[in-house]
Amino acid sequence: MNTPPKTFRIKSFGCQMNVYDGERIFELLNENGLTAAAEGADADLVVLNTCHIREKAADKAYSDVGRLRREDGSRPMVALAGCVAQAEGAEAKARSPMIDIVVGPQAYHRLPEMVAQASRGARPVDTDMPAISKFDALPKRRRANPSAFLTIQEGCDKFCTYCVVPYTRGAEISRPRSDIIAEAQALVESGAREIVLLGQNVNAWEHEKLEFADLIRTIAGIDGLERIRYTTSHPVNMSDELIVAHAEVGKLMPFLHLPVQSGSNRILKAMNRSHTVETYLAIIDKMRAARPDIALSGDFIVGFPGETEEDFEATLQVVDAVGYASAYSFKYSARPGTPAATMEDQIPREIMDDRLQRLQDRINTHQLAFNRSKVGLETQILIERGGRHPGQMIGRSPWLQSVHLETSANPGDLIDVTLVSAGPNSMTGAARQKKAA
Ligand code: 5AD
Ligand code: SF4
Repeated sequence: MNTPPKTFRIKSFGCQMNVYDGERIFELLNENGLTAAAEGADADLVVLNTCHIREKAADKAYSDVGRLRREDGSRPMVALAGCVAQAEGAEAKARSPMIDIVVGPQAYHRLPEMVAQASRGARPVDTDMPAISKFDALPKRRRANPSAFLTIQEGCDKFCTYCVVPYTRGAEISRPRSDIIAEAQALVESGAREIVLLGQNVNAWEHEKLEFADLIRTIAGIDGLERIRYTTSHPVNMSDELIVAHAEVGKLMPFLHLPVQSGSNRILKAMNRSHTVETYLAIIDKMRAARPDIALSGDFIVGFPGETEEDFEATLQVVDAVGYASAYSFKYSARPGTPAATMEDQIPREIMDDRLQRLQDRINTHQLAFNRSKVGLETQILIERGGRHPGQMIGRSPWLQSVHLETSANPGDLIDVTLVSAGPNSMTGAARQKKAA
């Protein structure tokens, strides 16, 4: 396998930050003369951009690698990237002879060089977290969806006792303000109408005495940009300035993803969450006072070690108190190397299954109620892509609801609609005639 690859394919798993990294790897390989393989065609190089957040993530990645072998017995050059690569390091080469390159999330700017090494028969590994930012080494952006991701912050210093992220993504770092603005401008020039600012602790962003709310206000000044979103926020970094920005910055969408994880203070303490149910709900109250229509979202873990039925019921109470517009919920998964993995009172699977079902039922009830509360409303949606039938398009409401409608509008168009019906996971809209200016 010594011919340098000409075509590539990238598969990204996990969070939006991985999606962003996948886009940057795409641009980087493009800039280095490789082209994306056509749909259905074999690629010379496959990059698996993996996620490590849940159990069996590594096993899944290795079986994904195995499946890359072609019917004739040949195989592409394989690069294992993302958080499994970070966690497994050189071990990955021992576990699968099919892996040519192992590259962590802070080192992928070196991929072209590593591909050249692999073409010469080497099996390079890079899981360093260099002080030099990979962003400086990446090409300026040239591709953008109507809604474009932009990573502004990486890593985590919070060390929740269940989580691998501080180990796979390293310490919290903020990208410099001027770099972010330049990238945002480039995205808008390439057709982005909405920018989603990303970070494991996005609202912890700070640079030269400026905080996240200042950054939002600056980005809102970019002509041609219509909408700003951000994710994921930590309650501890939810400043008053950010809350005020939701009241004052028109381009900042009325949506907040603010994970609480549990409704029990005892469990929150064992999780090392550094907030209580009361401080969390106080933030929600302030946010609702600033922006009454805000759609709230969250993350939940059921079955954390020691979680009793009473603790779990407290979680259901938080769901009712907040009335989430959407939320993600997960069964606790012991991650080797994290403090919670060795805690006593690990919860049996059947109990976790039961709690997850009850939690999801409760969340779904609120989600449907939220969607129904918007029926009849006149609003704007940003068209993102074509729907299942000809003439049907799918876009997003300000509250991040997926809206299906018949229209001749194109991806990137912001159009006036009336929301006419609501399902649990999406809305139907009807386009309105543009009012004369
Ligand atoms: N088990 C289950 N869920 C987890 N999450 C993070 N680590 C774990 C784990 N070990 C969830 C949290 C986090 C989301 C991204 O994934 O809810 O907010
Ligand atoms: Fe997965 Fe977390 Fe890594 Fe994102 S940061 S890819 S969710 S482990």
